[in-house]
Amino acid sequence: MNGMDQNREKWGSKIGFVFAAAGSAIGLGNIWKFPYIAGENGGASFVLVYLICIAIIGLPVLIAEILLGRTTQRNPVGAFYKLSQSKFWASVGGLGVIAGFMILSFYAIIAGWAIGYIVEAISGNFYLWPEPAAAAQHFRDLVINPYWILGYFAFFMILTMIIVFAGIQKGIERASKIMMPILFILLIILMIRGLTLEGAGEGLDFLWNPDWSKISASTILLALGHAFFTLSLGMGAMLTYGSYMSDDDSVPVAGLQIVFLDTVMALIAGMAIFTAVFAVGLDPAAGPGLIFHTLPGVFVKMPGGYIFSILFFILLSIAALTSSISLLEVVVSYFVDERKWKRHNAAIFLGIIIFLLGVPSALSFNILSDFKIFNLNFFDIVDFIASNILLPLGGLLISVFVAWIWGFDKVIPNLRKGAERLFDNYPWLLGFWKFFLKFLSPVLIFFVFLHSIGLLEKILNLFAQ
Ligand code: PFF
Repeated sequence: MNGMDQNREKWGSKIGFVFAAAGSAIGLGNIWKFPYIAGENGGASFVLVYLICIAIIGLPVLIAEILLGRTTQRNPVGAFYKLSQSKFWASVGGLGVIAGFMILSFYAIIAGWAIGYIVEAISGNFYLWPEPAAAAQHFRDLVINPYWILGYFAFFMILTMIIVFAGIQKGIERASKIMMPILFILLIILMIRGLTLEGAGEGLDFLWNPDWSKISASTILLALGHAFFTLSLGMGAMLTYGSYMSDDDSVPVAGLQIVFLDTVMALIAGMAIFTAVFAVGLDPAAGPGLIFHTLPGVFVKMPGGYIFSILFFILLSIAALTSSISLLEVVVSYFVDERKWKRHNAAIFLGIIIFLLGVPSALSFNILSDFKIFNLNFFDIVDFIASNILLPLGGLLISVFVAWIWGFDKVIPNLRKGAERLFDNYPWLLGFWKFFLKFLSPVLIFFVFLHSIGLLEKILNLFAQ
């Protein structure tokens, strides 16, 4: 089991892995989703709970996932099977592959909007609809056009496929090394722009001054769920990236770096967006449309807004792309490892399948908008099943697997590889990690999971009566 597979592709460098994994983590979740759910849930109080969730659950589970990949050098299905020889656990990896299919099929649609909005920004269209209501209407007019939505969706999928087609070092690692620094610089520029706007202080207050009364059970559960999504946890993406890692790299240090970068980027995005939203007097709780409905209106009211609007949507597209390649890579690695497909064929064929799977989701904004099950359209159903059921379930099972099935007597020697110095200097770190993984995360994730499927509220109501 310890023998490294010499033929398997590897990251070219330590930093290459961290860039790629941070690229997977940092995405629409940070720039699109985090600000709007923080905005809807009281700002700073949500942020605080989210930070705690990241530290006590996100980081331990992330380390477990990367370690599963590095130890087995396999895709999620192969990794679980190799360590357990059990079909049940292999099928847990299979859930991850299915989640990869599903998440990418809707993620790439929103990413397509981001690309479409680069074109909108360049063409100066935002200046034609400067008020939020008109900007929101303009957004609806765009997505109601199936050609607009499908065209940008297809374009984004092709970009994703090209990078995964090129492979680990030449594709994913190279793309991440170029794009991540650009992303970082662009976000910092936007944050400085936000901070220097008149009235920016109010936005900062909103983000940093917690109102304790706003913290409720549902804030905690929402924050925990988002911690999973934003760190790409629970479906084997980090496992797959970890499988291209070598034994000399430190898994805990890489995990810490990824968590640090992802969190900093979310906070910087939050500062860039809320300072601007408050400076022009818009509502921070505008919901999922926050960046597409309100930001165009924010940009047109700020000096230099034309350039900043273009930069912003380029940034959003880059962030989405470094995440979407990790989603496609999970699926591709399964077919390459287990079904012996060629990487090139897998990237093209599976990319096309995912696009086709996404067509009904894309059309649920126009032609299929009346098709609803339980009041959810096709897009919402796929998002709900993948993000709210498969990810927390995957995270729960990964913690249980590592702590209880694989067993710490086998896990710890593997974790120590490449991290000997760290654990020699701080032996108590291991104790913490074991406790978090064995007890804390399974129990807490279990609650998120119940909440996600709406059971928790029902049980709580039962007690309240
Ligand atoms: N972490 C990504 C984001 O925050 O946008 C989303 C994501 C990517 C989730 C890859 C899951 C995944 F496997």
